[in-house]
Amino acid sequence: MIKLQQKSIVVTGGASGIGAAICTAAHKEGATVGIVDINGDAAQELCTALGRRAHFAVGDVESEGSIDAALEKLSTSMPAFNGCVTSAGIMPTREPIEEMPLENFKRVLENHINGTFVTCKLVGRRMLATGGGSIVTMSSVLALRPGPVLGYGAGKAAIKNLTQAMAVQWSKKNIRVNTICPGWVDTPFIRKQEAAGRDLSPILNMTPMGRMALPSEIANIALFLLSDLSSAMTGSVTVADCGITLAGGYLPYGELPE
Ligand SMILES: NC(=O)c1ccc[n+]([C@@H]2O[C@H](COP(=O)([O-])OP(=O)(O)OC[C@H]3O[C@@H](n4cnc5c(N)ncnc54)[C@H](O)[C@@H]3O)[C@@H](O)[C@H]2O)c1
Repeated sequence: MIKLQQKSIVVTGGASGIGAAICTAAHKEGATVGIVDINGDAAQELCTALGRRAHFAVGDVESEGSIDAALEKLSTSMPAFNGCVTSAGIMPTREPIEEMPLENFKRVLENHINGTFVTCKLVGRRMLATGGGSIVTMSSVLALRPGPVLGYGAGKAAIKNLTQAMAVQWSKKNIRVNTICPGWVDTPFIRKQEAAGRDLSPILNMTPMGRMALPSEIANIALFLLSDLSSAMTGSVTVADCGITLAGGYLPYGELPE
């Protein structure tokens, strides 16, 4: 159990999937949580379900003004933020580069990289004024092992680098910044792709553990990084992928090649 009683944690994308699991787990461990999401109905629903010590604000991470206003709203009930997770994100598109409109590329890239930049900038500014904190960003194994997704993979690689650049900038200012690289996680994000006709069995076949991670398993890592137990960690990259990045080349054989 990770004690978070003194923590006041804002989570973008907190209304669904990994972000919702983080809000739920942090709240259970005693934290005050602020859910920021573009989906106000879902944010309000989770907030009501959590009850006391939960707050929400509608915010679009692609707009600096929108996130500033959301943080101001939360500030009335959360005087200082000492934890933040940037989990807002949109699905990758799967288009061949020679046919991909620039707009589609930019849309996914900018949601991820601009959203992380804007949130960290505005939360970090407030943390600097109130004594510091811990920020956790959400990258992906695609930052380490590129796949065929263009804007999404480039965005996740940029998030990893941005996280480490912020960690260096804030290293003497009591703000730690770490990133998580999940593999496949069983969230609405993935299930929407399945509903749109995607066969998920190749994912399981390429994963040594033969399953996706659960949102609660990613939340456990986020809680550790938000807590004082990880006080020596900044700029770290934590891979939580059920073994995907280890598997290269061998899985097609089954287990040991003949
Ligand atoms: N699910 C996976 O397999 C997986 C793997 C690696 C990384 N990730 C990353 O983890 C994060 C969370 O993914 P998830 O699976 O929980 O997705 P999800 O779709 O369940 O949740 C994402 C949330 O972000 C919100 N959001 C989207 N755009 C927003 C915006 N502009 N402003 C504010 N909120 C916005 C959505 O409303 C939603 O509530 C994403 O950054 C995703 O890229 C997911």
